[in-house]
Amino acid sequence: MELPIAYFGDTILRKKAKPVEAVDDELRKFVEDMFETMDKNDGAGLAAVQVHRDMRLFISRIDTWNRDGTVNLGTPLVFINPVLTDPSPEMIAMEEGCLSLPGIRGMVLRPAEVTVEATDLNGNRFKERYTGIQARCCMHENDHINGVLMIDRFSPRERKMVDAKLRLIKKKKR
Ligand code: NI
Repeated sequence: MELPIAYFGDTILRKKAKPVEAVDDELRKFVEDMFETMDKNDGAGLAAVQVHRDMRLFISRIDTWNRDGTVNLGTPLVFINPVLTDPSPEMIAMEEGCLSLPGIRGMVLRPAEVTVEATDLNGNRFKERYTGIQARCCMHENDHINGVLMIDRFSPRERKMVDAKLRLIKKKKR
């Protein structure tokens, strides 16, 4: 079931989300709905707060495109109660988008690598070092569960450029 997305202006996007208490069938069904919602909206990552659930949980699936236009589906990953550590000193600027901020894109400077420790859908804790787009995605989504949006990390100039668009989203989407 596709879930309704919380857009910029929705207060849940500014809250520090609560830890997930139990990994059970209800949660697994919710995560399935999150993947469906992410797919239908062409996202690569989605946090639970973006579909109105106050929990420290996000998902990702980084697809890649071949030259002939066909898609290689990435591995679906689930991060429950994630903790990010050891960001690399090397920082990279990359363009980001966000399903809660439709039509807005901008450059965000973040560490190139990060370690993520989280619980999976079987309730097991795992730890992994990520680079590239996967690292980027984890940092963007982890920001969501702390009430932080990518526009908070835009340069003042870039932030000003999207001001009118933000006001429109706030007005239209509620
Ligand atoms: Ni986002």
